[in-house]
Amino acid sequence: MIVVTGATGQLGRLVIGELLKTTEAKNIIAAVRTPAKANDFASRGVQVREADYSQPETLAAAFHGASRLLLISSNEMGKRIEQHRAVIDAAKAAGVTFAAYTSILHCDTSPLGLAAEHLATEKYLLSSGLSYSMLRNGWYFENQTAAIPLALQRGAFIGATGQGRIAAASRSDYAAAAAIVLAGKSYANSVLELAGDVPYTRSELAEEVSRQTGKAIQYQNLTEAEYTRVLSGFLADLHAGLVADAEAHAANGALEDDSHTLSRVIGRPTTTLAEAVKSALNTPANTHHA
Ligand SMILES: NC(=O)c1ccc[n+]([C@@H]2O[C@H](COP(=O)([O-])OP(=O)(O)OC[C@H]3O[C@@H](n4cnc5c(N)ncnc54)[C@H](OP(=O)(O)O)[C@@H]3O)[C@@H](O)[C@H]2O)c1
Repeated sequence: MIVVTGATGQLGRLVIGELLKTTEAKNIIAAVRTPAKANDFASRGVQVREADYSQPETLAAAFHGASRLLLISSNEMGKRIEQHRAVIDAAKAAGVTFAAYTSILHCDTSPLGLAAEHLATEKYLLSSGLSYSMLRNGWYFENQTAAIPLALQRGAFIGATGQGRIAAASRSDYAAAAAIVLAGKSYANSVLELAGDVPYTRSELAEEVSRQTGKAIQYQNLTEAEYTRVLSGFLADLHAGLVADAEAHAANGALEDDSHTLSRVIGRPTTTLAEAVKSALNTPANTHHA
């Protein structure tokens, strides 16, 4: 059986959807913090079990009978090393033999502050003796396209990525890769640098939005400190600082990648910038996020 943690999150939902294309529902376990949020999975025959990263006692029961695990990294920054260790310990104790982990692009060499918790998790997973796959996911398009409604109101995107190129892909691309790695047998002990095929700059994002909407949208680059201040208006300070830090490093190429590993794994090109913008413009009530 395959177990997916964080299955009610945005990536987790897509992974379950992908797995259902190739795997019988009864062989999939959605391990979730809040089972009531997973009624739709249960109605499709997926096993829904409570699994809270901060309550290790829930994890043993959640992983019972599973042989392959996807650990979707927690979104609780600062708590993640302890949480992820608990998941890996429980998986090993439950007899899981293979664990895939959603890490960050170029984890072992990345200058991003965000990489620290991922690197500690990768090291712990390596030392666990489980067979592994490090899914080193690059940036989600959705991180930036979520700001389209605000950019349309204000006439500009803001950020701190300068002229740095970002090899983003959509969550659905990363979910497809995770499902393939989980359901197949070919990725034992692998490190996969997963990113979009065609890196782009924030200015190119603004140009694409202008092209598709007919409205003039610019890109206004801020310093890391200025951008941190803006983000602090609606994110916790730790989160705001880490996002601005990531953008400042992206200005120097830290989120670029030309390996094309993601498209090779999923057997198709990754989502293009134009497709990502089109999809965001067609999504009602787009979440506002700078
Ligand atoms: N590559 C990128 O650009 C990028 C961007 C943002 C985040 N990420 C990372 O990728 C992960 C997945 O992305 P996403 O878009 O799916 O994020 P998301 O929608 O925020 O989902 C995060 C998931 O983690 C679960 N979670 C948080 N704390 C938990 C706990 N204590 N116990 C059990 N589950 C817990 C959440 O459960 P609930 O459903 O109960 O809330 C949710 O299912 C994020 O958590 C983050 O580590 C990557």
